Amino acid sequence: MTIYSFSQIILNWYHLYGRKNLPWQKNKTLYNVWISEVMLQQTKVKTVIPYFKKFILKFPNLNSLSCSSLDDVLYIWSGLGYYKRAKNIYETSKIIQKKFNGKFPKNISDLIKLPGIGKSTAGSILSFTLNYSFPILDGNVKRILIRYYGITECSKNTKTEKKLWNLIESITPIHNTGNFNQGIIDIGALICTPKSPKCNICPLNKKCIAYIEKNWIKYIFKKNQKMKLKKIYWFVVVHFKNQVWMKRNTSKQFWNNLFCFPIFKNKIIAIKWLIKNNINVKKYNIINAFDHEFSHFKLEATPIIIKLSSEETFLNIKKQGIWYNLEKPQKIGIPKLVEKILKIVI
Ligand code: ADE
Ligand code: SF4
Repeated sequence: MTIYSFSQIILNWYHLYGRKNLPWQKNKTLYNVWISEVMLQQTKVKTVIPYFKKFILKFPNLNSLSCSSLDDVLYIWSGLGYYKRAKNIYETSKIIQKKFNGKFPKNISDLIKLPGIGKSTAGSILSFTLNYSFPILDGNVKRILIRYYGITECSKNTKTEKKLWNLIESITPIHNTGNFNQGIIDIGALICTPKSPKCNICPLNKKCIAYIEKNWIKYIFKKNQKMKLKKIYWFVVVHFKNQVWMKRNTSKQFWNNLFCFPIFKNKIIAIKWLIKNNINVKKYNIINAFDHEFSHFKLEATPIIIKLSSEETFLNIKKQGIWYNLEKPQKIGIPKLVEKILKIVI
């Protein structure tokens, strides 16, 4: 019986069962793979596919992206979440135009200096497009390593991180690195899933410690289980005819640069704002709160709905926001939660 190495097992499996027809695998340019890898950082393949297609259609290359506006990019990104990624992509395109003459850098140390590109994303880009031998270490890879090698007591800290990097560096092959990296991601996403891994069909099951011990629960990558803080906000939804009043969100904590209804920390301040703008506060309507989870906190947003009968009262603050036209929406970034509220309210 031939004993295959870890990397050979992955490569053989990839050859037979790995994913080879994802949209970003068809025309594997540095640009396309970069966009897809940033989208995939926090989002599942199934969700990313339509966004990736839309993005590439609108911005087919670095030049078209760097000549657009941030609002254009956020418009395409609307609903995908983690909007900092869109801003990073936009800024990176500008940097590449300016500092690298519009040519996507192929050097790992140049890549990891760019906004939104870490060590793992840089490794993905270079291995998938050029077959350069750089490892990757995303959530999928971490889960496999922890289970296969039976690593216990690992939580999200720099020491574990370093240990896992050393491990993946030692097993990533010199040749066929792109296929190896895609193979290990695919096994992590399709077989070694967080809950109920399909160990019976896993090519790694012969030597996997978690499988041998029949105890994959013991080998779990613990996230920092800090309680997420709940922040409470009031959204004032003023609408007039087929338009809704919105402002560019300047908060650095969430939805930076996206458009949203005016946001207030409590109801009293919200009502004061309405009075200041001569809106008849007798007519407002409060509806059930909407919950949303961000990576660092939970949001509870209670919409206060006001239907204006005339636009006049609003004229004095016109410069501070926009009338978002529901029939002919402006091309700007709108968070999914705002879309949800609009659907229910209007
Ligand atoms: N997650 C991160 N990169 C990926 C890729 N190239 N294919 C599938 N899932 C991924
Ligand atoms: Fe994961 Fe099971 Fe495969 Fe081990 S045998 S790597 S636990 S799917």
